[in-house]
Amino acid sequence: MPVHDVVIVGGGGAGLRAAIAVAEENPDLSVAIVSKVFPMRSHTVAAEGGAAAVIKDNDSLEDHFRDTISGSDWLADQDAVEEFVREAPSEMIQLEHWGCPWSREPDGKVAVRPFGGMKIERTWFAADKTGFHMLHTLYQTSLKYDNVTPYDEWFVTNILVENGRCQGVTALELRTGKTEVIAAKAVIICTGGAGRIFPFTTNGAIKTGDGMALAYRAGVGLKDMEFVQYHPTGLPGTGILITEAARGEGGILVNKEGYRYLEDYDLGKPLDVTHPDHPVKKSMELGPRDRLSQAFIKEVEKGRTFIDELGHYVHLDVRHLGQKKIDKKIPFVRELASKYAGIDPVYHPIPVRPVVHYCMGGIDTDKEGATTLPGLFAAGEAACVSINGANRLGSNSLTELLVFGARSGRGAAKFAIEHPDLDMSSLEKQALDEQSRITKNFICKQKGSERIANLRQEMTQSMESGAGIYRSESSLKETCNKLAELRDRFSNILIEDRSLTFNTELTSALELDFMIEVARSLAHSALERRESRGSHQRTDHVNRDDQNFLKHSLALQTEEGPKIGYKEVVITSWPPEERVYGR
Ligand code: FUM
Repeated sequence: MPVHDVVIVGGGGAGLRAAIAVAEENPDLSVAIVSKVFPMRSHTVAAEGGAAAVIKDNDSLEDHFRDTISGSDWLADQDAVEEFVREAPSEMIQLEHWGCPWSREPDGKVAVRPFGGMKIERTWFAADKTGFHMLHTLYQTSLKYDNVTPYDEWFVTNILVENGRCQGVTALELRTGKTEVIAAKAVIICTGGAGRIFPFTTNGAIKTGDGMALAYRAGVGLKDMEFVQYHPTGLPGTGILITEAARGEGGILVNKEGYRYLEDYDLGKPLDVTHPDHPVKKSMELGPRDRLSQAFIKEVEKGRTFIDELGHYVHLDVRHLGQKKIDKKIPFVRELASKYAGIDPVYHPIPVRPVVHYCMGGIDTDKEGATTLPGLFAAGEAACVSINGANRLGSNSLTELLVFGARSGRGAAKFAIEHPDLDMSSLEKQALDEQSRITKNFICKQKGSERIANLRQEMTQSMESGAGIYRSESSLKETCNKLAELRDRFSNILIEDRSLTFNTELTSALELDFMIEVARSLAHSALERRESRGSHQRTDHVNRDDQNFLKHSLALQTEEGPKIGYKEVVITSWPPEERVYGR
């Protein structure tokens, strides 16, 4: 049985940053990165626009703090945000020292661009392939450390708990179909979000909420799951992200009447900067994502959107930026629009619509990434620290995975040193139990009439119709009931592929199992939050209600379904106010 000091589940940005932190903390610690895909295929690679951190003289930690708190609609924990903004610049500079090619100003200084909800330009970028370059940098850096062992294409199926603490995982080696225990004194979950529980998302196919479900099953609460971010500009049909950088660089949104419709909506105060490509002095396209996505729905209701076989959409117009700027600052936008929408944005506006992009909620952790289960940590989108509250500001998440990836790595390293003993014989037994669960319920199951694809489609459709941009008591109840039905029907699925090698039907079933749990926690949390805040908009409770709901939701798994409790929000210096984006 392989034994490591720290096992990290997930090889994306947070997982790699955590691994480097453990390796640097103590070269005698052995670290494993267990990933269901080769790390460079993790979803961090798809991040485009940039990562926020204070670097310019006109900016301050206080400004970054205030933008983030206001953007979160006061649901972020202010002590966590304080540490986040303070550690962000050094993490970004560290990444530069490891080789990340940040785009520069003509004088050689790091360039920053405007981003939605950030009142001051503070988003560092590497053209519009920021995630790709960050992931490369972290991956190549992780290779320097002899004490980091990769388990590429291993699928974690369970978290092992013995004597009240996490002592490792069981994982399926996809190449052989063998289930093994990977024992560990501490485990960090960095598996990203769960956008795939919705039908239309920017998220890669791998983002099925595995880590959230693993922690939830192990008794850890999922915090603020009702808050799901719709990014305002995805390509219809595929959901491929057209980065906010396109708007940061001056792109505008127009409806079918050619009207810059955001003029009609409350999007908060404008940026401090006067941008030559933004002639209107309001936040407009650089308002926060929740408000922009909600404005789109209002435009649909007013009959002012385009419609075709792929549904409703509006136009993102960057033509006025000119070919030179487009090719320099947002070349990937041009490439994606050309390849996937048949549109060259130098000459034509790009069709776009809101698309599920990010889970603000996740595994409940403290600022060191520790969960309530001793020895289990989490970081990145899988976790909820929380710095994002009810709405994340674009470009805070790449920075978050650095800051809290590193913190969780250090926290897990300390825990592993302080808890050297493992209950090896009990872990062996748990491995056998897990192998027989997978064999009995999936590989050797002879009877069953449900198809994975059908259940999955019914789940995603129900999430969109009942728990989408606008929700209500009745739509959410319907979704909760549907998900309970799908939970029951799941036990009647049949897997036809009995092979052991790269059995993708089996992994799809395991992923669906995880997704149903995560979807249920989300829908039930949304049902119980009878107010509107940030990305959670209830048509039957349209106002923010600080009296009753200035608190984090916490979903716990029970036999009867999710049980929703609450937890205080940490307010250190800025009591709730009207949401106005900055001072
Ligand atoms: O639009 C974007 O580039 C997305 C950035 C983010 O989600 O932080």
